[in-house]
Amino acid sequence: MKDGSGERTRVVLLAAGQGKRMKSGLPKVLHEVLGKTILGRLLTAADEVRPEHIHVVVGHEAEQVEQHIKDNPSATPVSTHLQSPQLGTGHALMQVAPSLKDFVGTLVVSVADTPLLSGATLKALVDEHKRSKAVVSLLTTDVDDAKNYGRIVRDEKGNVMGIVEHKDASEAQRAIKEINPAIYCFSWPTAEAALATLKNENQQKEYYLTDVIGWAHDHKHAIASSKVPDWREVAGINSRIELAEAMRLMRDIAVTNLALESGVTIVDPAGTWIAPEVKIGKDTVVLPGCYITGDVTIGENCTIGPNTVMKGRVVVGDNSSVSQSLVVNSEIGNHCKVGPFSHLREHSVLRDKVKVGNFVELKKTIINERTNASHLSYLGDSTLGSGCNIGAGTITANYDHITKVKSRTTICDGASTGSNSVLVAPVTLEENSVVGAGAVITKDVPKGALAVTRAELKQVDGWAEKRKKKADAAKLEAAKGI
Ligand code: UD1
Ligand code: CA
Repeated sequence: MKDGSGERTRVVLLAAGQGKRMKSGLPKVLHEVLGKTILGRLLTAADEVRPEHIHVVVGHEAEQVEQHIKDNPSATPVSTHLQSPQLGTGHALMQVAPSLKDFVGTLVVSVADTPLLSGATLKALVDEHKRSKAVVSLLTTDVDDAKNYGRIVRDEKGNVMGIVEHKDASEAQRAIKEINPAIYCFSWPTAEAALATLKNENQQKEYYLTDVIGWAHDHKHAIASSKVPDWREVAGINSRIELAEAMRLMRDIAVTNLALESGVTIVDPAGTWIAPEVKIGKDTVVLPGCYITGDVTIGENCTIGPNTVMKGRVVVGDNSSVSQSLVVNSEIGNHCKVGPFSHLREHSVLRDKVKVGNFVELKKTIINERTNASHLSYLGDSTLGSGCNIGAGTITANYDHITKVKSRTTICDGASTGSNSVLVAPVTLEENSVVGAGAVITKDVPKGALAVTRAELKQVDGWAEKRKKKADAAKLEAAKGI
C-alpha cells in the first residue's frame, strides 16, 4: 500500500498541556462547553472520520483525563499516552509514534483545545489529504488578530513553506494573518521521519510539531492546505474568556439551526442556551432562560420554559409543556404538563397526558397515562398506574436511613391519595384504592379499599369562648397583684 493512499486512518489528540491561563485545578481539556468537555467534543468530531483508533496524549493531571475518557466511552477505541515532562507538541507526537509501528495510512493530529471543530471539517481535511496524496495536509484560517498563533509562511507561488511560531517570528512574519489552527494530516510512516529531525532550538525550547511542515517542504514532499472560512471554528481555548466566547458561538450556531432548519421558535436567542446535539421538533417554542444540554430530544408543538434546565438523556414527546423545571435523564410523553417548579431526576418516565405540577420531585419513578401529581410531592422509586390522582403533599418514604435500603412504592391504576399522605415503602396501593388525607400507610391497601390512619375527630362546643374567659380572668388577677 502506497503511503498516503491507504484507507487506514488514526487520530492523535494532543491533550497533555496544562492550560495555565485557565487558572484552574481542572485540566483545560476537561472544561465543559455546553454540557460536554472540550476533549469530549474533540473525541466526537474525531469519531466522524471513522478512525480505527484514537490516541490521546496526556500529561498534566493525566489521571483525571484518563478517568474522563473511561467514564465517557467513545465509539472508537481510545488509548492514552503519557507525555512527562511536556516538551512541546512535536515531543507529544513522539510519545505516540512507538504505538504506530505497524500503521500505514493517514494520521490525523490535532490539538485538543478547539471545541468548535466540526467532524465535517475534520473529515473534509482527511478526504482531501487522501485525494491529493500529500504527505502533510493542514488547515489554516485568516484572522484579524493573530494573537500567539503560529503563522503560515508561503513562498511567492503561494505554496506553504512552513509555520513560524509567534514568539520566533520576525516583525514581517507577525504581520501574516493566515494562522495555524494546529490540525493536520500526516502520511504515515513517511512523516514519521520528521520527528527525529525536530530540535528545540527556539524561543520556547520546545520540540515543535509545526517544524514537520518545514521538514516536508525541505524534502519536497507535497503539502496540502485548506482554509477554514470562519476562524472561530478552529480557535483554541486558552482562557475562561475564550471558553465563554466558544459557548456563545456554539449556542448561536445551535439556536440558528433550530430556528432555520427545524422550525423552532426561540423567543430570546441570547438568553437561551442549547447545545448543538439537542434535537427539537417543529413549532415548539423555547421561552427565555432555558439551559438545555446533553442527549436531549424534544418533540413538536411543545412549550419549554421559561427557566427550564434539561441535561443528560432526556426525551420529550409532542404537545407537552415543561415550565420552570429541572429534568435530568428522564422521559416525558405526549400531552404532558410539567411544572412550574418540578424536578424530574434520574430515570423518571411520564407516559402520555401526565401532569406533574408545582414543587413535585420525582426520582426513578414511572407514571402512567392520565395520572396527576399536581402539587408538593416527593415520589421516589415508584411506579404509578394510569388515571391516578396524587393529593397535594403525598410523600413516598422510600429510604431507610439505618439500613440504607431504598424500597419501591407501587400505586395501581385508578388509586388516589389524599393530601399529606405518607406511603412507607415497600408498599402497594391496589387498583382504585383510596388513601385518606394525612394517612401514614405502612401496609398494602387492597383493591377498592379506603385506608385512613386518623385519630377520631373531637369537637368541643363553646371551647373558644371558655378559653377566652379563663385568660381574661387570669389577666385581672395578675393586675390586682401589682
Ligand atoms: C500550538 C502551535 C501553533 C498553533 C496553536 C493553535 C506548536 C509549536 N504551535 O501553539 O502553531 O497556532 O497551537 O492553537 O505546535 N500539548 C501537548 N504537549 C505539549 C504541549 C502542548 O500535548 O508538550 C497540547 C496541549 O494540551 C494543547 C495543544 O497541544 O491541546 C496546544 O498546546 P498549546 O500550548 O496551547 O500550543 P500553542 O502554543 O497554542
Ligand atoms: Ca493554544
